[in-house]
Amino acid sequence: MYDFKIAAADKATLYQDLAQALEALIADEPDAIANMANAAALIWESLPDVNWVGFYRNVGDELVLGPFRGRPACIRIPFGQGVCGVAAQTRQVQRVDDVHAFPGHIACDAASNSEIVVPILRDGELVAVLDIDSPKKARFTEEDEAGCLKLAEILAETI
Ligand code: SME
Repeated sequence: MYDFKIAAADKATLYQDLAQALEALIADEPDAIANMANAAALIWESLPDVNWVGFYRNVGDELVLGPFRGRPACIRIPFGQGVCGVAAQTRQVQRVDDVHAFPGHIACDAASNSEIVVPILRDGELVAVLDIDSPKKARFTEEDEAGCLKLAEILAETI
């Protein structure tokens, strides 16, 4: 059993603890699906106010749904479409305060109001994106972005 202690004192501490826990969780495990599944579960239970946490993988320049927590979601997303597709195409983090104002946003859960999508790159190639949704508007701050970028960096080598 894994029982990580993730402090919620402030966001910086929370993401530091989360990064440490993620490193421990995926250390020595080369299986990408197992690592994405455990990462989604860990992030899901550590971050408050989230209703979807998971991965879309780059399969032949199309995003295909990977391990996640939350409601069943859209399976394939072309590059350039929706928040995930824009993140994949631009390789830039997309931090969206109000998804309803994002042109082409793909609604997978009507409860979602804000979203962050972080590209995961290995040797300059896009491997996957990490997608996190929240029912709260403007849930994700610059601190969340920095924290999620660190998580993406840890995951890049092992997925
Ligand atoms: N909202 C995303 C689609 C994926 S779900 O949020 C799980 C998008 O617009 O790309």
